[in-house]
Amino acid sequence: MHAPDPAHSHAWKPTPLAVLGGAPAFAEPLHVGRPNVPDRAKLLQRIEGALDRRWFTNDGPLVQEFEAALVRQLQVKHVVAMCNGTTALEIAIRALELKGEVIVPSFTFVATAHALQWQEITPVFADIEPATHLIDPAQVERLITPRTTGIIGVHTWGRPCDVAALAEIADRRGLTLLFDAAHAMGCTHRGVPIGRFGAAEVFSFHATKCVHSFEGGAVATNDDVLAEKLRLMRNFGFAGYDRVVYLGINGKLSEIHAAMGLTSLEDLPRVVAHNRRNFELYRQGLAGLPGLRLLDYDDAAAESRNYQYVVVECDPAASPLGRDELAAVLTAENVRARRYFYPGCHRMEPYRSLLPDALKRLPVTEEIVAKVLLLPTGPTLGETEILSVCGILHRAAAESVAVRGALPPPDGASPTSRIL
Ligand SMILES: Cc1ncc(COP(=O)(O)O)c(C=O)c1O
Repeated sequence: MHAPDPAHSHAWKPTPLAVLGGAPAFAEPLHVGRPNVPDRAKLLQRIEGALDRRWFTNDGPLVQEFEAALVRQLQVKHVVAMCNGTTALEIAIRALELKGEVIVPSFTFVATAHALQWQEITPVFADIEPATHLIDPAQVERLITPRTTGIIGVHTWGRPCDVAALAEIADRRGLTLLFDAAHAMGCTHRGVPIGRFGAAEVFSFHATKCVHSFEGGAVATNDDVLAEKLRLMRNFGFAGYDRVVYLGINGKLSEIHAAMGLTSLEDLPRVVAHNRRNFELYRQGLAGLPGLRLLDYDDAAAESRNYQYVVVECDPAASPLGRDELAAVLTAENVRARRYFYPGCHRMEPYRSLLPDALKRLPVTEEIVAKVLLLPTGPTLGETEILSVCGILHRAAAESVAVRGALPPPDGASPTSRIL
């Protein structure tokens, strides 16, 4: 373990742990998904340009430039930028004419399910594979009914779903395959950028993402007809002044957002390189912690990964402290570790009430939501912070009896469950 740098603003205090009465290790909170700030001068120059042009929205030049840059990045024919990832999902689902039932993982951000339910399409929750946290194609096949029209795979943590298995099922059963690629900018599958699979792939450029536009999203597709429909739908169905040819909504991205999106996309190599270094530091720093598994990349030599999420699983049978206890220890130190996607969409409303039977077929999801903890990363964190976070976890394990005694009982109403 390296000695902490006392001059650093996040100076690390080795003893005692904050849950045991010490001062928090970090004066400022360390967040999961803290927004990245790309080249300010470039961003401000682009914003100045938009102000000078007085062209703020409605398919302006920065949106067009952002879409063209994304086409190059994703090596796909069309990218249609939207105001956020959820709207992009909703518009893609509508443009693809999905209805009835669509199979999705429950282990995802709730927007994936909401984008269906919002349009009165039933999300049918499928379980995930324990090693990868990705939708289980074998169960997808079993969940198909005469009402099923599509499958939405989620490339959770930027790891590609089993694209070939899902595509084979979709083709054979006449279903539409859509991907939620909100986590997957800059990632590849068999050397091909995520963005080129299925009928379409949907990205989020929310401020927490490695490429962001404050808020924003996009649909990527190789289908010319679909792309045209998406463009019409995001702009009220307007096909020119005074000519509405389609049912549409306002899903447009503004110029200011596109200015950030473009500048952030240019910054992606730096962000990924930094996150990758952080990931290696976590790997070293977490080694030897009983019951704690870092979700690693066994394909990193052949594939691109963006390393924007550091995901650990806490095995309650092997770890001296449970996941929520570790989260409480970290929170006390001002390390805002998060329990994504706790408790699973199937336990959130309206799905909990509408689909009460779903949890019976989601044993892996139930297990994973109880184990997963995300640790902070990103360009504002360096070696000092990451080794400090790992040091806290080692000390918590070593002092687990005292830590457990100091924490409130896990009753669902503890301070931790309110914070997380
Ligand atoms: C997997 C997933 N899908 C969809 C979304 C929704 O995107 P947005 O926040 O841009 O609406 C997010 C996150 O924000 C996400 O993580």
